Amino acid sequence: MCGIVGYIGEDAVQEVLMYGLEKLEYRGYDSAGIFIFDQKNQGHLFKEKGNIAHLRKHIDFNIPANVGIGHTRWATHGVPSVMNAHPHQSADGRFTLVHNGVIENYLEIKDTYLGNIEGKGNTDSEIVVQLIARLADKQNLSGKEAFREALKIVKGSYAFALLDANTPNVLYAAKNKSPLLIGLGEDFNVVVSDAMASLQQTNQYVEIEDGEMITLTKDSVVIETIDGEKVIRDSYQAELDASDFEKGTHSSYMIKEIEEQAAVIRKIVQHYQDAEGKLSIPTKLRKNLMDADRIHIVACGTSYNAGWVGKPLLENIAEIPVEVHLSSEFSYAPPLISGKPFFIFLTQSGETADSRQVLKMIRKWDYPTLTITNVAGSTLSREANDTLLLHAGPEIAVASTKAYTAQITVLAVVADVLAREKGLEKKINMIPELGIAANAIETIINEKNRISELANLYLEDTRNAFYIGRGLDYFVSMESALKLKEISYIQTEGFAAGELKHGTIALVEEGTPVLAFITQESSANHTRGNIEEVRSRGAKTCVIAMEGLALKTDQFILPKTHPILAPLVAVIPGQLLAYYATLQRGYDVDKPRNLAKSVTVE
Ligand code: F6R
Repeated sequence: MCGIVGYIGEDAVQEVLMYGLEKLEYRGYDSAGIFIFDQKNQGHLFKEKGNIAHLRKHIDFNIPANVGIGHTRWATHGVPSVMNAHPHQSADGRFTLVHNGVIENYLEIKDTYLGNIEGKGNTDSEIVVQLIARLADKQNLSGKEAFREALKIVKGSYAFALLDANTPNVLYAAKNKSPLLIGLGEDFNVVVSDAMASLQQTNQYVEIEDGEMITLTKDSVVIETIDGEKVIRDSYQAELDASDFEKGTHSSYMIKEIEEQAAVIRKIVQHYQDAEGKLSIPTKLRKNLMDADRIHIVACGTSYNAGWVGKPLLENIAEIPVEVHLSSEFSYAPPLISGKPFFIFLTQSGETADSRQVLKMIRKWDYPTLTITNVAGSTLSREANDTLLLHAGPEIAVASTKAYTAQITVLAVVADVLAREKGLEKKINMIPELGIAANAIETIINEKNRISELANLYLEDTRNAFYIGRGLDYFVSMESALKLKEISYIQTEGFAAGELKHGTIALVEEGTPVLAFITQESSANHTRGNIEEVRSRGAKTCVIAMEGLALKTDQFILPKTHPILAPLVAVIPGQLLAYYATLQRGYDVDKPRNLAKSVTVE
């Protein structure tokens, strides 16, 4: 989704902003722009539809300038275009603003405050910069005071960075619900929506809370509430390193991240092992989980699919009932809540607006909450009672791969801890079993050429496809289908194998690819029956089965893994099939169309 980078210091600002925007590219965007003040305080605006490389060609890097703001836009209000791209300027040219988020009352603001001022584009963001200018003009306010008054009027989610031509050596910012951080340096300060946009300059950050506004110069930072109360907050050192974000010798981030999964599982095990070598989580969290009579997992997309794998893990190993909910549906069909519920938010980014909405609701109800996320300090991490980190390293490819397996692994850690607490530890010897799963992933990665062949054979020129399976294999089908459709654009459904015959089998025709997972003994025969049903109706079937359940005629054999952890292993061919099918079609595996890495609008 949209990204922000603002800089005030002594370096050539164009390069600093472009570095930041390039690092934010992975989040998804359709236009981009920067605004700079040159050393004579003249403003220069550059914005373009399309990618950062295109914007780069239009920027004058020879202008001596040390202050500026930049933005990548993922369209919400108004089509992707130069006019709708940020930064936006007030009609009088005094204020320039970038915005992430959605202003809910922008039409009301337009009617109430803007009179006959006409904007250039159709964005909610442009209304805000016009409002600031109008307030400054009508009420004879300084830029900072006009910004503050505007913040009292706007409703919705926002991260803003603002420049005022009357104070060109000051950068203003504010935040509500959308992420924004201050980065600190010697003779400079930055404001960014994601630390990775400024890791080249600094690893020292200060969080901004909702409802706060910031005044930055190159050597000072002032944080205040919108009502003007000063806030003192310590900085922290980001654990990340700029090199974590490079793809090294890999041709794409996606393949790098797929290949990292075995190492990620081992790292999680190592991280959550205590001095006695047992898996452990913080005591208070463990007690809260032990007190619960039901766990609710709330998530979106791939994280939701991981949640479904977490359900049988927790239910079978730790014997606690689990429900899985789509965040975006939760408030429309809230579950009947038992006496002692516990809520787990699964979110790679920790910023997903749909999930955050639910978290806020649950907090009002005062139930215990845990966020399982890859991003330390992310919004959902800060707002839940507890956080367990995925330790997967930055995931840059838009299609999530290693965060999925990391989420399942962390849920397996939680299940193991609870099982031991309940005296159920004999059910599975979790640490070695996770080790076996990690080894199995490596074996599959070594056979990736075979999966490339399968992608070619089954997916080369198809318009649609099905993944089928039962139980855990169904959940892996859901995730494999999501991977395939989101990057290769092949319309793919993940289906419960037994449900196909109740209607959807009507879509199966000569040559329709049906890819089936068989990793569970209890359902293997039934799924084989469903494979025969579609094959006899012309489907091209591809069976991915686990050693011990596989037939010689199956297309891919998965190394043997504990059945409850089989999704960790079975999903790898699903991810690789998506990856190769996308490459074979000539699309960008890392940046699929229309998608954003962290979805900060509801
Ligand atoms: C798909 C994908 C998305 C995310 C979803 C939730 O590959 O990445 O479906 O899983 O947008 O995002 P997080 O996990 O950040 O809450």
